[in-house]
Amino acid sequence: MADTYDVVVIGGGPGGYNCAIRAGQLGLKVACIDKRGVFGGTCLNVGCIPSKALLHASELYEEAGEHFPKMGIEVKGLSVNLKGLMAHKDKAVSELTKGIEFLFKKNKVEGIVGEGKIVAPGTISVTTKDGTREITAKNIVIATGSDVAPLKGVTIDEKQIVSSTGALTLPEIPKRLLVVGAGVIGLELGSVWRRLGSEVTVIEFLDRICPGLDLETGKQFQRILTKQGMSFKLSAKVTGVTKKGKALSVTVEPAAGGTAETLEADVILVAIGRRPYTDNLGLDEAGVKRDERGRVVTDHHYATNVKGIYAIGDVREGPMLAHKAEDEGVAAAEILAGRAGHVNYDAIPSVIYTYPEVATVGKTEEELKAAGVEYKVGKFPFTANARAKSNLTTDGFVKILADAKTDRVLGAHMVGPDVGNMIGEVVLAMEFSGSSEDIARTCHAHPTLSETIRQAAMGVEGWTMQM
Ligand code: FAD
Ligand code: NAI
Repeated sequence: MADTYDVVVIGGGPGGYNCAIRAGQLGLKVACIDKRGVFGGTCLNVGCIPSKALLHASELYEEAGEHFPKMGIEVKGLSVNLKGLMAHKDKAVSELTKGIEFLFKKNKVEGIVGEGKIVAPGTISVTTKDGTREITAKNIVIATGSDVAPLKGVTIDEKQIVSSTGALTLPEIPKRLLVVGAGVIGLELGSVWRRLGSEVTVIEFLDRICPGLDLETGKQFQRILTKQGMSFKLSAKVTGVTKKGKALSVTVEPAAGGTAETLEADVILVAIGRRPYTDNLGLDEAGVKRDERGRVVTDHHYATNVKGIYAIGDVREGPMLAHKAEDEGVAAAEILAGRAGHVNYDAIPSVIYTYPEVATVGKTEEELKAAGVEYKVGKFPFTANARAKSNLTTDGFVKILADAKTDRVLGAHMVGPDVGNMIGEVVLAMEFSGSSEDIARTCHAHPTLSETIRQAAMGVEGWTMQM
C-alpha cells in the first residue's frame, strides 16, 4: 500500500525544508523530497552559503593586504591558498546541510532523496537510487526552486564558461574574468575573484548595474566598485564566444546594435538571472498553471489552480531570495495546518554581500515617484559616522524614505559597511508601521554604525545632528 502523508514537499531548499519543519512542528505527517542527494537546496549547496564563505574570506584577505598597513599592522608573506579557501567553503556547506538532517529528525520530517513527479493531484512518484515508489498526500507543496538562465549562443561547460555554480569552484584564479550580467551574482562573485587577483570586466545589457536598485544607491555602488578596480561595460551584450587557444574570444555589441568589439578572457561567468525550475515535475499532466515566465501561478495562500497543490519560493512570483522562500514555506505550512500564515511583501529586505554591502527594503524613490506618492528623504553619509571614521570604512550612505503626510517609513536604501546586518532595524520598524520619527527617537548605542540609520531618519525632518 502507498504511504500517505498530510503534506509532501517537493524540493528541500529554504522554501521546502522550512515548510516541512514547520509542518512537522504543527503535528502534520510530512515528507520532503529532494533529488540533489543533500538537503538545503540552491542556497546551502551552491548559492548563499558557499558564496558568502568565499566573500568573507576574500574580504579579509584584501583587508589584510590593503587596510591593515593603514592601521599600523604590518603583514608579511600574505598569500592565497586556493585549495584551503575552497576547503573552508566546503566545510561551511557540509556542516549546514547536516544541520538540516538533524532538524528533520527533531521535527519528525521524513527526508526522501529522490526525484519527485506529480502523477495526479495527491499522488507523487519518487525515483530513488533503489527504484520508483509511489506516495500519496492530502497536500503537495512544490518548492523546486530555480536554475541558471541560459545565454543564447553561449554554452556553459562549468570549466571555462561557468554559471555561479562553476564560479564557486574554479581550480585556479583566472587572470581575466569576464562577467555577463551586472546583477547580484555577477557583482558578488566578480568581487571574490577580483580580490583574489583577477582582472574583472562586467558586461551589462542595461545602462545601469543592478537594475532593481534605487537609482542613486546603484550609481554610488558602481562608483565604489569601479574605484576598487572592477570595469563595467554598460548597454552592451555578448553575442558570441569562441575558443582561442587557452583563452576565450568574446564578441560584445552595443545593446541597441552597432559595431562589435572583441574582448579576451580566461573565464566567463554567465549571470543574467535565474529561471523557475519545473522540469520533469508533471505539471502539464496535472494541469497546474504557469505564467509567461514559467512561474507556478498561486493565490495569496500559495494554492495553485489544482486543489491540494501549492507552490512556494523561487518557483513562484516574487524576489528569488532565500528568506522570502523560507517565509513562504512557513506561511504555507501554517495555512495547511489551519492557521493564519502570512508574508508581508512590503518588508522583504535584500542584501548584496560585496564590500561595502548594499541593503534595501521597501520602495525606491523611482517607484514612489511613479506611483505619485509624496515622500520625504533623510540621508546620512558614513563619512560623518564616528565609528566608520575610526574603522576607515567611510564609503556609502543610508537613505530613509518616509511618507510626506504620515511619516510612515516606505523604504530604506543603504550602501556601506555591515549594512546587511543593519537593515533589520528598518525592516522591523516597517513591520510595525513605524515612522521615521520612531527610528529617530530610538536610542542607538554610540559609537556604532547603526547611528547612521538614526541620523538619516532624523534627516527626514531636517534635524540631523552628528558631524
Ligand atoms: P532552491 O533552494 O532552489 O531548492 C529547490 C530544491 O528542489 C533543489 O535542491 C532541487 O534539487 C530540488 N528539486 C527540484 N526539482 C525536484 C524534483 N522534481 N524532485 C526533487 N527535488 C527537486 N538568496 C539570498 O537570500 N541571499 C543570498 O545571499 C543568496 N545568494 C545566492 C548566491 C547564489 C550564487 C545563488 C545561485 C543564489 C543565491 N540566493 C541568495 C538565492 C537563493 O539561493 C534562492 O532564492 C533560494 O535557494 C530559493 O529557495 P527555494 O527553496 O525556493 O529553492
Ligand atoms: P539578476 O537578475 O540579479 O541580474 C542579472 C543581470 O543581468 C541584470 O542586470 C540584467 O539586466 C543583466 N542581463 C540580462 N540579460 C543580459 C545579457 N544578455 N547580457 C548582459 N546582461 C544581461 O540575476 P543574477 O545575478 O543571475 O542572480 C539571480 C538571482 O539570484 C537574483 O535575482 C537574486 O534574487 C538571487 N541572488 C541573491 C543574492 C543575494 O541576495 N545576495 C546573491 C546571489 C543571487
